[in-house]
Amino acid sequence: MSTALGYRTFGAADVQEFFDRPDPSPGPGEVLVRVAAAGVNPLDHLLRSGHVRELNGHLPFPQVLGMEAAGTVLAVGEEVTGLAVGDRVTGFALTGAGTYAGTTLLLAASTARIPDALPATWAATVPVSGTTALDVLDQLALPAGAAVLVNGVGGGVGSAVAQIARDRGLAVVGTGSAAKRERATAIGAVFVDYAAGDLVERVRAHAPGGVDAVVDTVGGASLRAVAPLAPTPDALVSVGDRSVTELGGAFVRRRLDRSGLEHVADLMVTGRLDPTVAATYPLARAQEALALVESGHAPGKLVVDMAL
Ligand SMILES: NC(=O)c1ccc[n+]([C@@H]2O[C@H](COP(=O)([O-])OP(=O)(O)OC[C@H]3O[C@@H](n4cnc5c(N)ncnc54)[C@H](OP(=O)(O)O)[C@@H]3O)[C@@H](O)[C@H]2O)c1
Repeated sequence: MSTALGYRTFGAADVQEFFDRPDPSPGPGEVLVRVAAAGVNPLDHLLRSGHVRELNGHLPFPQVLGMEAAGTVLAVGEEVTGLAVGDRVTGFALTGAGTYAGTTLLLAASTARIPDALPATWAATVPVSGTTALDVLDQLALPAGAAVLVNGVGGGVGSAVAQIARDRGLAVVGTGSAAKRERATAIGAVFVDYAAGDLVERVRAHAPGGVDAVVDTVGGASLRAVAPLAPTPDALVSVGDRSVTELGGAFVRRRLDRSGLEHVADLMVTGRLDPTVAATYPLARAQEALALVESGHAPGKLVVDMAL
């Protein structure tokens, strides 16, 4: 039995409630994990509010918040290879099983062992922000020396894209609010405040030769504002807005495989990627963390730390 934060109906944040649930049994291809830390992501509130019912509309209530976690394997289901009881891991939860909880079920094929030196609060950010950033850059396959614009450089995905891009020898221009300037500059991005005048003009001033690709993590009007900076339609990708295809660009989907998780964990332990964890929260205050993410302007990556 463990405490979980979830919801019994779709709705706004006031449908969230704590409840006790029995430890779920791992089915084929699943592992039961004692959660050490859980990443807080925009998809958590989108699932709760019923905005993406194609993902969870068919699942029974209560559903538990959270899609990614680091923890320790307590039991393995049938057909699981490469993971054993006692392993420290990070991975994706079954949709609805949730990770804002003492225990959960992770998908074994989307779960990887992690190095001892990687703290759980960092490892918990590997599956969503980390692997999405990796997939964005793998998909763009830019050569060293190219320049990329990261729209939303202060966010979980944007910050990881910027750092992995720098590690690959790319020049990075990043947009954010003034609060994100210091951090963006520290990770080697040229920072452009999106609220301080004509964005396109100011990006062009910082990158007179233009950028070679645009990575959008914001969507909507912001995506449309930066799209003209992409030199060709296939140099425009978005992780947050599927309507990018109407502009000729591509929506990025995570691969969810174990090798991507291992790669990102390695970037972290070798000092090439800092997930920019701005704050950690005990489970009892996880709703505060999700409210910040839901505002669209979280101060950085937020993590629920079960040790607090
Ligand atoms: N396709 C996938 O597989 C995938 C995976 C992960 C995430 N996503 C999606 O990607 C998006 C970003 O996720 P995330 O985890 O990075 O979110 P996040 O950590 O909450 O970051 C959102 C960032 O957007 C910035 N922002 C808001 N308005 C902006 C604007 N007009 N211009 C520039 N920046 C702006 C905010 O910074 P300020 O406070 O500075 O405004 C904030 O740092 C979400 O829509 C999420 O659902 C998709």
